[in-house]
Amino acid sequence: MIRDIARAVVGESLAGRIWRRLEIIGDIAILRKPIDLELDVELYKKLAVEIMKRIPHVKSVWLAVTPVSGGHRVREYVHIAGELRSETTYREHGCLFKVDIAKVYISPTLNYEHIRVARLVNPGEEILNMFAGAGLFSIIIARHSKPKRIISVDINPDAYRYMVENIELNKVSDTVIPVLGDAREVARSCSNCFNRVLMPLPELAYEYFEDAVISLRSAGVVHVYDFVTAESKIEAISRAQNLYLEKCESIGIRARVLKSRIVRSVGPRYYQIVLDLYLEKTS
Ligand SMILES: C[S@@+](CC[C@H](N)C(=O)[O-])C[C@H]1O[C@@H](n2cnc3c(N)ncnc32)[C@H](O)[C@@H]1O
Repeated sequence: MIRDIARAVVGESLAGRIWRRLEIIGDIAILRKPIDLELDVELYKKLAVEIMKRIPHVKSVWLAVTPVSGGHRVREYVHIAGELRSETTYREHGCLFKVDIAKVYISPTLNYEHIRVARLVNPGEEILNMFAGAGLFSIIIARHSKPKRIISVDINPDAYRYMVENIELNKVSDTVIPVLGDAREVARSCSNCFNRVLMPLPELAYEYFEDAVISLRSAGVVHVYDFVTAESKIEAISRAQNLYLEKCESIGIRARVLKSRIVRSVGPRYYQIVLDLYLEKTS
């Protein structure tokens, strides 16, 4: 349907590049401008008006004019139609998340990962989520499994504020403990504490990997999300595995890959991957 709207408004060739770049978060639609395309806001405004006509629950449309960037992993936006508001409530796996798309990282791309990881959690686990954002992994895990405790860290004060609100909204305050701060410091302040550590920030995954290991008990699972350049998906997986298995060897940790998968293609020959690593501290 979006493809038809795009075809009608911007013509066949441009439509092919634009229509896949629509995300809907709650009642906000986000169009992403391809980086190599000149910004023609008027054209996007026409498209936005059509989107609002055809998808009635969309109340506001924003154009993302930069990729996700900076330490807080947010994009810059231009408002192009509907209500001038960037806050919305997004539903995923039966949980509600209040977010401001301009202040906090949020992406439906991680939808499958949220529930996949939640289903792996055993009753009574103690978990560290190093890069929690508005709390999606932590809250979905708390609602779908029976962990004892999830320490949920973010360095962005807005993300922390929404996480606190979302913990209340989803009634998981007995399980999810929000922390505002640097994941490295939190991980180092609690060595041998956790059964499972989540690292959903590719930009810092490798750099903070040893901190995750410190916080892990004598054995446990680390979920690492990272970016890899490779000619194919198979090569991307094998590169990522080699990188982290070598890292484990260099720090004297026994490691086994439980699962690896491509989360998404980020660009030509560039992939986001996830590795579920079972680690054993040998000494
Ligand atoms: C990709 S987002 C997390 C997405 C989130 N887990 C989800 O499922 O929606 C990465 C988050 O890491 C946070 N961050 C960046 N550097 C950090 C650090 N040193 N310590 C803790 N959080 C950090 C950012 O503010 C951002 O909210």
